[in-house]
Amino acid sequence: MKNFKIAALAGDGIGPEVMREAIKILRATEKKFGFTLQITEAPVGWAGIDAAGKALPDTTLALCKQSDAILFGSVGLPDRDPTIPKEERPERAALLRIRKEFGLFANLRPVTLPKALAHACPLAKERQGDGIDILVVRELTGGMYFGQPKKTEDIGGGNQRAIDTMVYTTPEIERIAHVAFKSAQLRRKKLTSIDKANVLENGILWREVVTRVGKNYPDVTLEHMFVDNGAMQLVLRPTQFDVMLCENMFGDILSDEAAALGGSLGMLPSASLGLPRQSAATAGAGEENFFGFYEPAGGTAPDIAGKNLANPIAQILSSALMLRHSFGLNEAAAAIENAVTKAINAGNRTGDIFNPIETTAKRVGTTQMGDAIAAGI
Ligand code: IPM
Ligand code: MG
Repeated sequence: MKNFKIAALAGDGIGPEVMREAIKILRATEKKFGFTLQITEAPVGWAGIDAAGKALPDTTLALCKQSDAILFGSVGLPDRDPTIPKEERPERAALLRIRKEFGLFANLRPVTLPKALAHACPLAKERQGDGIDILVVRELTGGMYFGQPKKTEDIGGGNQRAIDTMVYTTPEIERIAHVAFKSAQLRRKKLTSIDKANVLENGILWREVVTRVGKNYPDVTLEHMFVDNGAMQLVLRPTQFDVMLCENMFGDILSDEAAALGGSLGMLPSASLGLPRQSAATAGAGEENFFGFYEPAGGTAPDIAGKNLANPIAQILSSALMLRHSFGLNEAAAAIENAVTKAINAGNRTGDIFNPIETTAKRVGTTQMGDAIAAGI
């Protein structure tokens, strides 16, 4: 029987409670589809600082290295201990560090608005067309997040200067462009590449390289769009988009915007992938598999943490992406996605997607939503 090793890092805020539901669902698929998952939990984020004095404890990092995939919750509590240096805070010392350490350059964020949640989308019904279905492909290890120099310095007179550097090389753009074109080939074959080529050197290079890579994918329609227009088009006519390719920072911003169109940030899963590798379980089978990092895009939501209010769907859908991209378990991944749709169609709503105008819907907590989804596997 196939066996896969998962490092489960729940982190802070709502992380632990949504992770618990995702593990519940994974256990249900394990039984049904005949594979085994060796799930090991470890602290990260403020939980790591509390347990071992570091946002990414050495033992947690070692566990990640021995695993086939990382299932991540979320980290960062803005109000905790402002005296800790920014380099040691969870966002940089755990999340960005893992992305860089494992070379996870490709971040996939699929946004879909289920028919039953049309009311949760902030756009008028006529703008939703036949449904919103967008894949944001975000470059994750370059650009302004990591470019050097990155610092704040004194410039005299009590003033400071803050510097972040946006930098991309041809190979960095090429590899993420290939991921985006391949993703588009499996979907509606349209790729919108986002840049700011009217102002930024980075934008000019981005556009050139993406255009060149596109010659290898004649079946995909490529268009370029400035990021400001892209932000506007998302709310004016979101149905024009299939795959949106973005550099790191633009992707961060536009994926949150797109998530709101999908009903709630609590519904947005993500997969962060490095270069393909053959996992032990599929070696020789000729299948491409990725060491991956899977996390909900929504954050720790400290205001609702520990209250059984959080929507676990983003975490659960992230675990489905893990089964698909890292383990090649397509059937089990689809079963999870279908079970989520079924639970929504049956009227289960956490607070973020609940609207009293839906008279047949019932407001449920994190655990009940997890139970409803597990029952549908
Ligand atoms: C995300 C988050 C992170 C990012 C933060 C928490 C560092 O917003 O994954 O989108 O900016 O990448
Ligand atoms: Mg973000």
